[in-house]
This record gives sequence, structure tokens and C-alpha cells, in this order.
Amino acid sequence: MHSRELPLALLTLLFINTSESTCVLRNHITALTGEPFYLKHCSTPSKHENEKDTIRWFKYNTSLGRIELSPKNSPRFAFHDYVLEFWPVEFNDSGRYIFKMGNETREWNLNVIKRNNHKCFTEKRVTSKVVEVKKYLKIQCENDYFKNRINRTLLYKDCKQIAENNENPLNFQKNAEFEDEGYYTCVLSLNYNGKLFNVTKTINITISGDRNTLSPVIFGSPSNYVKVKLGKDVRLNCSALLNENDVIYWLFPEENATYGNIHEESEVNIMTPEGQFLASRILRIENINENNLNFPYNCTVGSAEGKAMRVFILVKQEDTDISTRGMIVAILLLVAVVCILIVCAIYRVDLALLYRRLIGRDETLTDGKTYDAFVSYLKECQTENCEEHTFAVEILPRVLEKHFGYKLCIFERDVMPGGAVVDEVHSLIEKSRRLIIVLSENYMSHEVRFELESGLHEALVERKIKIILIEFTPISDFMFLPQSLELLKSHRVLKWKAGKSLSYNSRFWKNLHYLMPAKTSKPGRYESEILPVLSQT
Ligand SMILES: *[C@@H]1O[C@H](CO)[C@@H](O)[C@H](O)[C@H]1NC(C)=O
Ligand SMILES: *[C@@H]1O[C@H](CO)[C@@H](O)[C@H](O)[C@H]1NC(C)=O
Ligand SMILES: *[C@@H]1O[C@H](CO)[C@@H](O)[C@H](O)[C@H]1NC(C)=O
Ligand SMILES: *[C@@H]1O[C@H](CO)[C@@H](O)[C@H](O)[C@H]1NC(C)=O
Ligand SMILES: *[C@@H]1O[C@H](CO)[C@@H](O)[C@H](O)[C@H]1NC(C)=O
Ligand SMILES: *[C@@H]1O[C@H](CO)[C@@H](O)[C@H](O)[C@H]1NC(C)=O
Ligand SMILES: *[C@@H]1O[C@H](CO)[C@@H](O)[C@H](O)[C@H]1NC(C)=O
Ligand SMILES: *[C@@H]1O[C@H](CO)[C@@H](O)[C@H](O)[C@H]1NC(C)=O
Ligand SMILES: *[C@@H]1O[C@H](CO)[C@@H](O)[C@H](O)[C@H]1NC(C)=O
Repeated sequence: MHSRELPLALLTLLFINTSESTCVLRNHITALTGEPFYLKHCSTPSKHENEKDTIRWFKYNTSLGRIELSPKNSPRFAFHDYVLEFWPVEFNDSGRYIFKMGNETREWNLNVIKRNNHKCFTEKRVTSKVVEVKKYLKIQCENDYFKNRINRTLLYKDCKQIAENNENPLNFQKNAEFEDEGYYTCVLSLNYNGKLFNVTKTINITISGDRNTLSPVIFGSPSNYVKVKLGKDVRLNCSALLNENDVIYWLFPEENATYGNIHEESEVNIMTPEGQFLASRILRIENINENNLNFPYNCTVGSAEGKAMRVFILVKQEDTDISTRGMIVAILLLVAVVCILIVCAIYRVDLALLYRRLIGRDETLTDGKTYDAFVSYLKECQTENCEEHTFAVEILPRVLEKHFGYKLCIFERDVMPGGAVVDEVHSLIEKSRRLIIVLSENYMSHEVRFELESGLHEALVERKIKIILIEFTPISDFMFLPQSLELLKSHRVLKWKAGKSLSYNSRFWKNLHYLMPAKTSKPGRYESEILPVLSQT
């Protein structure tokens, strides 16, 4: 039997043309339950055209002998010329199948095995293939015989889908790596009479080669922009996992290295427990200048497996970063605040007056008093102190009344001669908002003592009047004044300076105005602000 079959097989091989390549040459065939399957006799159609009508198919039954197969027997079978199709093949289809055409016969042994329902493939139907590492790995999902019925093609690796294609064939190809090992299963969905059937094919791929050599791995992202400051140094650290004989080095344009500030340090190698090497190599750039910027410094690892690269580019960092900029702003703000405070302190009086004028404050309206100030001064005008008298009786009223619009009470002018002087003075002081005391060495005479004491009582005990001291001539010794006046001295003493205090705009008048009550009424100013208060003749 063997001697008869061999020449026949050779013959069929010789006569096979492309359209016939789908015929089934093997005698022992394994099929999976539930999958479409076919048996096809290898024949040259032209030679047997007239014999086609005589084709018959048989299945061998041990007890009954040959049983002829016909579409009537089994609806799952389909007959086309030299082909018997199974839609699908079932477990009880195992056995011997015989093809007869004229005096020509052909036999196959079919072994149908149960599919593994827990996996996408069945171990017994797996073919194996060994691929060398780095060599071409190709998985092709195709089926020449059923190609016109294919609706969809899927490829699984270890039962995880890795590719899908609606056309035929589906190709998966790459350079093999060790991690590519596994079971690759092609699932072709076939459409038969509107029903879908799957044909599967599984290949067990094993990768061969030396597992101890690896593709070098450079740590870090492939491209890096490093911010640097001109004039500073930078160290670019490049590290990689590589094989014993691999090298790690830096590449950058030759002409840019001529400045002599770029130094490649020596390689540092540490062996890992797996026998690989952790290597690092530093590129040191000192005193960075413009020519070191904006081109790639390539850290490169060369190995038998190929090259790996990591690119560093230096870019200029702005001189002041956000934190120092923030500090400068803070300092400037501080300085500005301090300046404003100083200006405020210096022009405190002007600002207070301006503020008074702006909001139109008037504290004289509701207190029921008649005078804005009672002026207390030395009454006698002897030759040596007449100036002081003139100041109190002429200059003060001229400025405070005519210019600033205040109403003063001046004893000589406003008190009727005769009458009870003491009572009158007391009631006038009570009717005044301020007590202006024009001080000089001669002041403490008998006559003013009462005025002073009455005013002090009002000021310190009753708190109904405020005292303004005008130091008309420099006073070296305040001992002659009552002790209680000392309490008021520091804040409310204005010094008259004969030369400087003349103008209405002088500090003296501003301060006096400030110490006087706030008042809005302003009588007509018939004296220019610039003109001196006192003619200097
Ligand atoms: C042979 O045919 C009989 C009757 O149809 C059947 O019961 C038996 O299983 C068949 N045997 C084989 C091996 O197919
Ligand atoms: C073979 O098995 C299929 C399904 O399992 C069944 O439909 C068919 O009748 C069986 N055929 C025979 C001859 O037992
Ligand atoms: C088979 O038939 C062909 C003609 O159809 C004939 O030439 C050949 O000799 C026959 N072979 C056998 C073994 O009978
Ligand atoms: C697949 O290949 C591996 C390695 O050659 C082998 O150990 C395993 O038994 C194979 N599996 C099958 C189902 O053939
Ligand atoms: C092919 O499959 C798609 C869904 O995947 C279905 O809509 C379509 O009808 C199928 N075609 C045939 C010819 O079965
Ligand atoms: C065919 O394979 C697809 C994809 O694996 C699956 O979803 C479908 O259920 C299978 N159909 C049959 C009839 O086995
Ligand atoms: C460079 O980096 C590697 C890995 O991060 C590290 O092991 C090594 O110590 C570094 N070298 C220097 C000089 O910092
Ligand atoms: C460095 O790498 C970059 C980007 O891959 C490339 O354009 C450049 O030519 C390389 N430089 C050198 C000196 O190899
Ligand atoms: C250094 O590299 C930059 C950018 O590629 C280039 O413009 C410059 O001319 C180079 N310096 C020298 C000295 O060639």
C-alpha cells in the first residue's frame, strides 16, 4: 500500500498548479469540533474532466464497511467536484474517508478533537516555530481555500487580541524580541449561508538566541531641554543599562567643542546581579557661553544590538527667576511705603489741613462758643517788649481773623473798660475754643496770672479748651511757668522766628492753623498769600 501511495503523492505534487494548491495532501488529519473543514482530492481537472460524474465519497464503518455519503445523509456536508466540505466538522465525524473517481481512489484518516473551551486555542492542534532573536518574525493569518468567505480576521497573542483586519490576509511582522514568545492564534470568521463559523490556527513561537545580551536602555526622556545661566557650570548625567562590551559616549558638533570648556568625564560602571552593567558618563560644561547653547549634545550607547541615544539641549535661563523678581518687587514696595510714611510725617500738618478742607470739617458749629481763641499776652508795652505786644494785638488778628477767618478775643480790644475784670476774663475764656498764650521772658506778670490759671483749669480739669503756646522770644528757662503748663509744653509750643515766620505759607502759620479748630467759613482774602505779614522796616 505504501509503495503504491508514494508515486501517487509525487505525481500529484508535480501536477499541482496554483488553483489546486488547496488540496489536502496529508493522509492523517486532525480537525477541531465546530470548525469548518474540507477534504479535497488533488487532481488535474483537464485530464479527468469526463470522469467528474463518476466521483463518489465514502466513509468507512468497521461493522458495515463502506457507506456512501450523500447530501441526504447529512445536511452538514457539501459536495463540490473534488471537495467534501463540513459545516462544521463534529466529534462523530472521525474516521476513514474515501474518494473514488473512475478507477482512482484516495483515502484520508480524520481525527476530530474537542476544542478547549477555556482557551482560545487547543494545545493538540498547535504548530511550533522557532525564530532567532532580532530576526524577522511574521505571522500570517490566511486561508486560501476559504478566502472568499472570510468576513473578519483577528489575531490573538496568548489569547489577547493584538490585531484585526477585515481583509485577507492579516500580516503581523516585526523583529523578534524575547518578549514576543507565545501562542499566536488566528481566528478567521467565515460566512456560510448567512451563518458565521470560525477557523482557527495557532502557532507556538519560541525565540532563540543569547538571552544575556540586551538592547541597551538609556534612562530618562529621549530629549531634554536644560536651563542654564551664562557663566555657570552644568553637569549632564547620562546613564544606561548595557552589556559588558557596550560603550557609552557623548556626541556633539566638533567645532563647538573647540572652546575647551566641554569635558567628557570617564565612564562609571556598576555590575548588576543579572550580569548587566549600570553605566553613567558625565558631560561637564564649564563657564557656559552663548556658543554652548541651542544645539544637541547626544548621549549615545553603542552595542552589537544597535544604538540608543538621549539628546540634551542647553537653553538660556533668564537672569532673574521668579523668586528673586518677587523679592525685588517686595523690597521696592517696602521702600515706597517707608518713603510715603516719611513724607506723611514731614507734611503731616499740610495733609491734615488739606484733609480738613476736602471734607469741609467744621467743629465750631455746635459747641455754643463765641470765640475761636482767647489771646493771652503781656499787656504793657514798654520799649524792650513792644514787639510782642504788636504781635498779639496786630499780627495775630491780621492773619487769623482776616486771612483764616477765625474770631479772636483780645482783651484790649474786646473787653469793655471798667466792670469786673476777673469775672469777665473767666467767662470769655469759657466762651473760647483755644487759649493762645504769647510767651516771653516777661510774660509772667501779675495781670496775666489769672488768665493763665483760669485757662489751665479749663484745659486740664474741665477739658473744654485747648492751649496753644507761642514762644515769641527764645526762652531758656521755663521755671517761671506754672508746673501744670509743662504737661502741655512739648506738643503745643510754636516758636516764632522773626525772619522765617513772616509769610502766610510759613510753617509757623500752618502749624497754628492746624492747632486752631477746624472751620470752613473764609472771609474775603484781601491780602495776597505771598505778601509778608509784617513789613520789615
Ligand atoms: C457504523 O454504523 C453504525 C450504524 O449506523 C453506527 O452505530 C456505528 O457507530 C458506526 N461505526 C463507526 C465506527 O462509524
Ligand atoms: C454527529 O454529531 C452531530 C452533533 O454532535 C449530530 O447532529 C449528528 O446527528 C451526529 N451524527 C451521527 C451519525 O451520529
Ligand atoms: C484506470 O483507467 C484508465 C483509463 O480511464 C486506465 O488507463 C488505467 O490503466 C486504469 N488503471 C487501473 C489500475 O485500472
Ligand atoms: C510551545 O513551545 C515551548 C518552547 O519550545 C514548549 O515548551 C511548549 O511545550 C510548546 N507548547 C505546545 C503546546 O506545543
Ligand atoms: C460580516 O460581519 C459583519 C459584522 O462583523 C456583518 O455585519 C456582516 O453582515 C457580515 N457579512 C457577511 C457577508 O456575513
Ligand atoms: C468566532 O470568533 C470570534 C472572535 O474570537 C468570537 O467572538 C465568536 O464567538 C466566534 N464564533 C463562533 C461561532 O465560534
Ligand atoms: C548619574 O545618574 C545615575 C543614575 O541616575 C546615578 O547612579 C549616578 O550616581 C549619577 N552620577 C552622578 C555623578 O551624579
Ligand atoms: C544628535 O541628535 C540629533 C537628533 O537626533 C541629530 O539631529 C544630530 O545630528 C545629532 N548630533 C550628532 C553630533 O550626532
Ligand atoms: C555652535 O553651534 C551653534 C548652533 O548649532 C552654531 O550656530 C555655532 O556656529 C557653533 N559654534 C561654532 C564655533 O561653530
